[in-house]
Amino acid sequence: MNNTAKLNINGQIHELPIVEGSEHEKAIDISSLRNKTGYITLDDGYGNTGSCRSEITFIDGEKGILRYRGIPIEELAEKSTFVEVAHLLIMGKLPNQEELKRFSDLLTKNETIHEDMKFHFEGFPSHAHPMAILSSMINATSCFYPEILSSERQEDFVVQAARLLSQVRTIAAFAYRKSRGLPAIYPKPSYKYTANFLHMMFSNPYQEFDAEPEVIKALDLIFLLHADHEQNCSTATVRMVASSKANLFASAAAGVCALWGPLHGGANQAVLEMLADIHRSGDDGSKFIAAAKDKKSGKRLMGFGHRVYKNYDPRAKIIKKRCDQLLAKLKRVDPLLDIAKKLEEAAINDPYFVERKLYPNVDFYSGIIMRAIGIPIEMFTVIFAIGRMPGWIANYREVHENLETRIYRPRQIYTGLTQRPYVSVKERV
Ligand code: CMC
Repeated sequence: MNNTAKLNINGQIHELPIVEGSEHEKAIDISSLRNKTGYITLDDGYGNTGSCRSEITFIDGEKGILRYRGIPIEELAEKSTFVEVAHLLIMGKLPNQEELKRFSDLLTKNETIHEDMKFHFEGFPSHAHPMAILSSMINATSCFYPEILSSERQEDFVVQAARLLSQVRTIAAFAYRKSRGLPAIYPKPSYKYTANFLHMMFSNPYQEFDAEPEVIKALDLIFLLHADHEQNCSTATVRMVASSKANLFASAAAGVCALWGPLHGGANQAVLEMLADIHRSGDDGSKFIAAAKDKKSGKRLMGFGHRVYKNYDPRAKIIKKRCDQLLAKLKRVDPLLDIAKKLEEAAINDPYFVERKLYPNVDFYSGIIMRAIGIPIEMFTVIFAIGRMPGWIANYREVHENLETRIYRPRQIYTGLTQRPYVSVKERV
C-alpha cells in the first residue's frame, strides 16, 4: 500500500505520511503541513482529528466495538470487576492474584481523605451541585500531598493513582451526605470498592446499610462500563491539561468539569429528567419524539446519538439487559423504564433517527438502574466520573510518560476584525 498521501495545493503536490493503527485505522500525518505549505487543517469539534496515538482503548463506531487494552467490553462486563479493569487500564494488564491484592490493598490504604479536607465541605452551600464539589475537592487534594507537586520528591505514580481512584468515591459520598445535611460516613476497610461507596452513601452512624449483592454488582458494572472511552471530551481535556505538565489531580479535576455538561456525562441526569417530564405530562413519548426531530424546539432525545458510534452503543446493550434483571430482582416496576423502551422502539424505527444513525448510548438506561439503587439524580454524573477515573488516569499516564509529548496547542483560523487604530474614549461613538 502507498504509505503517503498527496495533497495538491494550487498545483503544488505535497506528500504527507500515512499512519496506520494496530486495528488498521488510517490517518494522514499533517504535523509538517504548516511548515511545508503555510496551511493548517480546520476541523470544528475535532470530528476528524486524531489528537494522539494511544494504546488504551479501541472503538469501532460503525461496528459497535469497544475494547479496553484489546479485551471486548462484553467479556469484561460478564467476567471482571471495576477494580480489575482499573488495573488493566492504568497498568496495561489484567492483574494476577498477587497484583490484584496489592492494588486492592493500596486502594484501601488510601481510602480516607485528609481530615482537614472535611472543613472544605462545610464551605459549600447545601444546594451545591456535587459535580462542582467533586472537581473542587479533587483539585484541593493535591494541597494535602505536597509530594505530588514537588519535582524532587516525585511520588510513585501508582500511589498517586490509587489515592485518586480511592478518594474520588469518598469525596463523592461526602458531597452527597453534605447536600442532604447528613453526617459523613467513613470508609470501611473490609468492604470492596463498590460496596464501600454504597456504605459511605447510605449507612448511618446508628445503622449500617445492607446492600444487596445484585445492587453492588449492578453499580460495579456501571463503573466498569464507563471506565474508558478513548478521546471523548473529558479524556481529551485531561490529556490537554496533562500536556502542560500539570499534576494528576489538577488534570482529573478538569476532566470532571468537562464531563459535567449535558452533551457528555451530564446526559444521564438529563435522560432521567426527560423521562420524568414525559411521564408527568402524560405523553406516551410520541410528542417528545416529534419535538426532538424539530430543530426549532431546542429539544434532543437525550441518551441518543454519539459522535463515534453509528450503531448501537455496546455499553447500552449490556446496561439495558442488566436494568431488566435488576428491576425484576428488586421486584421494582418503574414507569420511566416503560417510557424509555417506548422511546427507543419509536426512535429506532423512525427515518429521522435511522438516517442519522442515532441509537441509544450508555446514558439511556444507566439512570434507571441508578434510580432503582436509590442514587439521587444529581449524583448520576458523579457516578460517571468515578467510573471514568481509571481512563483519565491511564490517559494522563500515557501523556506524562511519553518523552515525545509536546504541549497540546491547536491553532485557529482568525475571523475577527483586521488591524485598526486605537480610538481614544472621547472620540468613540
Ligand atoms: N436527538 C435528536 N437529534 C439528534 C440527536 C438527538 N439526541 N443527536 C444528534 N441529533 C441530530 C443533530 O441535530 C444532527 O442533525 P442534522 O444533521 O439534521 O443537523 C445530526 O443528528 C448529527 O448530530 P451532531 O450534533 O452533529 O452530532 P455530534 O457528533 O456533534 O453529537 C452528541 C453527538 C452525543 C452530542 C449528540 O448525539 C447529542 O446531543 N446526543 C444527546 C446527548 C447525549 O445523549 N449525550 C451522551 C453521549 S454518550 C456519553 C458520553 O460520551 O458522554
